[in-house]
Amino acid sequence: MYKTFFIETYGCQMNFADSEIVHSILVNVGYVPTMEIRKADFVFINTCSIRDHAEQRVLNRLQEVQSLKKKRPHLIIGILGCMAERLQKQLIEKNKNVDLVVGPDAYRRLPEMLNSLSTQDKAIDTLLSTEETYSDIEPIRLSSNRVSAFIAIMRGCENYCAYCVVPYTRGRERSREARTIIHEAQVLFDQGYREVTLLGQNVNSYRCDTVDFADLLALTAQINPLLRVRFATSHPKDLSDKLLETMAQYPNICRSIHLPIQSGSDTILQKMNRKYTLAWYKDRIAAIRRYLPDCSLSTDIIVGFCDETEQDYKDTLSLMQEVGYASAFMFKYSERPDTYAAKHYADNIPEDVKSQRLAHVIDFQQQSSLLSNQRDIGQTFEVLVEGVSKRSTTQYIGRNSQNKVVIFSHTDEKPGDYIYVRITDCSAVTLFGQRIE
Ligand code: SAH
Ligand code: SF4
Ligand code: F3S
Repeated sequence: MYKTFFIETYGCQMNFADSEIVHSILVNVGYVPTMEIRKADFVFINTCSIRDHAEQRVLNRLQEVQSLKKKRPHLIIGILGCMAERLQKQLIEKNKNVDLVVGPDAYRRLPEMLNSLSTQDKAIDTLLSTEETYSDIEPIRLSSNRVSAFIAIMRGCENYCAYCVVPYTRGRERSREARTIIHEAQVLFDQGYREVTLLGQNVNSYRCDTVDFADLLALTAQINPLLRVRFATSHPKDLSDKLLETMAQYPNICRSIHLPIQSGSDTILQKMNRKYTLAWYKDRIAAIRRYLPDCSLSTDIIVGFCDETEQDYKDTLSLMQEVGYASAFMFKYSERPDTYAAKHYADNIPEDVKSQRLAHVIDFQQQSSLLSNQRDIGQTFEVLVEGVSKRSTTQYIGRNSQNKVVIFSHTDEKPGDYIYVRITDCSAVTLFGQRIE
């Protein structure tokens, strides 16, 4: 009898891309994916450690998954990803029903580790690598549409932002060979995909032999003008003019940049070890506007970092006001064990103050997103059609180059088509429009 597996994924896009690689590794040795957790012989949870809340969610879910073992004693439960790396054997010690713990650089060993469970009780591998990029493994695509796919171009991070766990869970930064990335993008295009997102924790520092990130973007964009190219995430310290010039040269490199600021105060930025100042960040925003006047901007914000004063927090709001982000991910600072901040600073902003500040920045961003969308009313955008909207089968959904979701009435368009849509209305998160011929 063949064995089936089920993977549930938490965390960032890199983790989702990793789950696609794990699917491929397991399918290659004859295991069969299933969508039904109750029927699976192996259940894997690909986990995230970025904030305490992310870990708690996984641990709660793990309780539920462990209870499945009552009915299915042969079920194997595996923890993959960043929590596996951070907590290692503690996961097994604290959860006696967990059988496998596999860190992000050890997925090739999964089949061997699963086999080893016939002779031993538990298996664990959390060795980090300086070279592993899984570049030869063709991921099994799990995205909900057949239009847009992720390509991991690098792994790890060594920026050591003071609050961040990623350098410890993902290891050293390493770039994947450009040839294999271009090949993967070409294969996707040939299969009908029309959008690829190049992924890394800091894509601007991509370098493999003589190819830097701007070169890689150009090579990907050259595959076909009908292939849209996106990327995430950009670290402000490495956002070069060369990159912006390259984007400007290729209309199919999308006009949207995610540029996490984290805080609008220089004191806090320095404490966070972000390695840029506010002046530098604003200069980069000005450069983006110069090269790409129609580019949309999004960001990440942390409120309540160690010693953040009322003034520091107000500076973050002023920065948000000044830039006018189209969207933002906003978080309360969550202390992560063993990071620089955990070791050297006190997590001294009270929880209720963090919550108030967060509620306020979310509110502020909501208005900013609405304003940004209102400015698009009356404009016409080229939209890549993704498929039917969740709300109604007569409404279709797509995105413009600025990465905004556009909803329009369906006529004869198919996923993967490019159409022109004139925007007639909006909410803070969506544009609504009509197709024009
Ligand atoms: N590599 C990306 C970010 C990856 S993590 C970058 O540098 O931009 C995604 C976001 O989570 C970060 O940008 C940050 O805003 C947030 N984050 C990371 N660690 C956090 C922590 N300890 N507490 C709260 N938010 C955190
Ligand atoms: Fe974390 Fe900073 Fe690396 Fe981003 S750049 S993953 S925030 S250490
Ligand atoms: Fe989470 Fe790991 Fe990504 S900590 S955000 S899954 S790199």
